[in-house]
Amino acid sequence: MFPPSTATLTARRSTTFYTDVLNGLRAEHKYLSSKYFYDETGDKLFQQIMACPEYYPTRCEMEIMQHQSGRMARQFMEDSADFDLVELGPGDATKSWFLLKQLQKDQARFTYYPIDISSNVIKWLENRLPVTLPGIRLQGLNGEYLEKLHQVNTFSSKRKIVLFMGANIGNMTVQQATQFCRQIHAQLHPGDLLLTGFDLKKHPRTVLDAYNDRQGVTRAFNLNLLTRINRELGADFNIDQFEHYPVYDPGSGACKSYLISRQVQVVHIGDKEISFAENEAIFMEISQKYSMAETESMAAQSGFEPAEVFYDSKKWFADVLWRRLP
Ligand code: AVJ
Repeated sequence: MFPPSTATLTARRSTTFYTDVLNGLRAEHKYLSSKYFYDETGDKLFQQIMACPEYYPTRCEMEIMQHQSGRMARQFMEDSADFDLVELGPGDATKSWFLLKQLQKDQARFTYYPIDISSNVIKWLENRLPVTLPGIRLQGLNGEYLEKLHQVNTFSSKRKIVLFMGANIGNMTVQQATQFCRQIHAQLHPGDLLLTGFDLKKHPRTVLDAYNDRQGVTRAFNLNLLTRINRELGADFNIDQFEHYPVYDPGSGACKSYLISRQVQVVHIGDKEISFAENEAIFMEISQKYSMAETESMAAQSGFEPAEVFYDSKKWFADVLWRRLP
């Protein structure tokens, strides 16, 4: 592998990735945005996280989809009109696959619009789904959720069903999530549906273990963002000098991951210098956990009414269906 040329680096430094990284690392409390975890290696590491014994959310939601897709499809088809099924952050769509399969079986007339920040994810889905779900109408969109949802609205006025599964909403604070739901609300019409996967509050040890797996995959997942910054922005993070440190506050339900600088060090990003004190933290990710009451108050605050809840057998996770209010 050759290092990127000066011209390439100059071009990359005009991207939002670069400005976001620099702003985050220059802030009083350093942070990086978890949406940047998902480069090619990050996608693979996340796949491995989902296979870890400690990482329960995927298995819980999988169980919901396997057993309750029929009930979900019935809700979606209560209104007989054609619809657009927009999925925010589908990943490899292993969970929504059950729903898509069910909808095909029930002869629902819909187009599936997966939206993902990872171009790899979109390419993979566009190649793969037509094979496993023959006849599916599908149009992948690579980019930010709200921008791409807006784009779907510009070319189709059909009723909308938005899927926001996998506890992706957990990567926002409660306040950010409420604001996000308001923005979704603004892009939907009365009667449109939003299905959101919430990871529920449970024993704090269970939560913390899910973000501190024994194989160290989550650790590698966090550190990979530093590797990505090295590669794509020409930085010189020494990965070995940062420690993965997750914490969970059972009161607020906020599970947060930090990388802790093991020593005083200076990191270069091109011609910029970032200094770290010993034990200084970079806030990497929030994975917010909810009580059902907290999800209900979020619905009320963002212009939706709860229509149905789908739980796994342990009630560790809930896919919550909301109807957009007039
Ligand atoms: C994809 C946002 C649901 O927060 O649980 C997993 C990402 N980060 N382990 C989560 C993640 C560390 C995951 N979400």
